[in-house]
Amino acid sequence: MHTEDDMGGTGTGTDTGGAGTPARGGAERPGPEAADPMVSVRDVVRTHGDGPAAVRALRGVSFDVPRGELVAVRGRSGAGKTTLLNLIGGLDRPDAGRIVVDGVDLAGLGEKRMARLRRDRIGFVFQSFGLVPVLTAAENVGVPLRMRKVPWREREERVDLLLALVGLREHAAQRPGELSGGQQQRVAIARALANRPSLLIADEPTGRLDARTRETVMDLLRAVVDGEGVTVLMTTHDGDLQARADRVFELRDGLVVEDGAPPEREAGTPPREADGA
Ligand SMILES: Nc1ncnc2c1ncn2[C@@H]1O[C@H](COP(=O)(O)OP(=O)(O)OP(=O)(O)O)[C@@H](O)[C@H]1O
Ligand SMILES: [Mg+2]
Repeated sequence: MHTEDDMGGTGTGTDTGGAGTPARGGAERPGPEAADPMVSVRDVVRTHGDGPAAVRALRGVSFDVPRGELVAVRGRSGAGKTTLLNLIGGLDRPDAGRIVVDGVDLAGLGEKRMARLRRDRIGFVFQSFGLVPVLTAAENVGVPLRMRKVPWREREERVDLLLALVGLREHAAQRPGELSGGQQQRVAIARALANRPSLLIADEPTGRLDARTRETVMDLLRAVVDGEGVTVLMTTHDGDLQARADRVFELRDGLVVEDGAPPEREAGTPPREADGA
């Protein structure tokens, strides 16, 4: 059983090992059972606005995101994808239903604890990158570390590792305006991984990118999952990207209509082993 104090512990940021190594199940962060899903959503309802103008964005959504997988949510514009991600990321609250992230029931968290959960366990990547224009790539990646008051030396090392992970070490001193769209999104992913989140939430991370750059960003997200053990939950309209996910859910009119069957793969690409262990 962990208390909310486990979330803000300074003891979680001591190793300088793998760039995005999540602290899950390890000694340093007592957490949920490894077999528990990273995200569990049950009967979640969210209505925007009220009265005749009310929009029932989610009408009773249930699904799980298993640990260590790349899960994609698809669905037409307005289907409720962003609403769902915002709820899971603790940026919004459901009207009904239950959301558990990394063993923590979000309903039990006040604003402060929710903010700490977001900071320490969840990384966010948005379609619009969201980088600070006046900061260099390295400084942008370091922002979450500054917020946690990580000492300068440790911060520099971690930023360097993260930039290497996303293949942008040579571009550390450039500002977002001096980087391509794909490079900016890679900086945003590095920043999202800074605090070693258990879960990376990405809302249309490739929405603004051309086909080739989309591939690069998808390669990186796959590497984050396969190499760093981070769980990724993303939305995308792109069928090619969905094909590279471990699981795809479809949202339609506020309901999950397709329950995560792994998508078809290109010939020659072996499916990931279903691990029951
Ligand atoms: N803050 C809000 N106030 C009122 N209605 C909203 C709000 N946010 C979302 N909605 C409505 O809720 C529904 C779901 O929106 P949402 O943004 O979750 O869809 P989406 O699947 O992410 O779409 P897209 O693919 O265009 O990003 C839409 O009908 C939208 O108009
Ligand atoms: Mg959206």
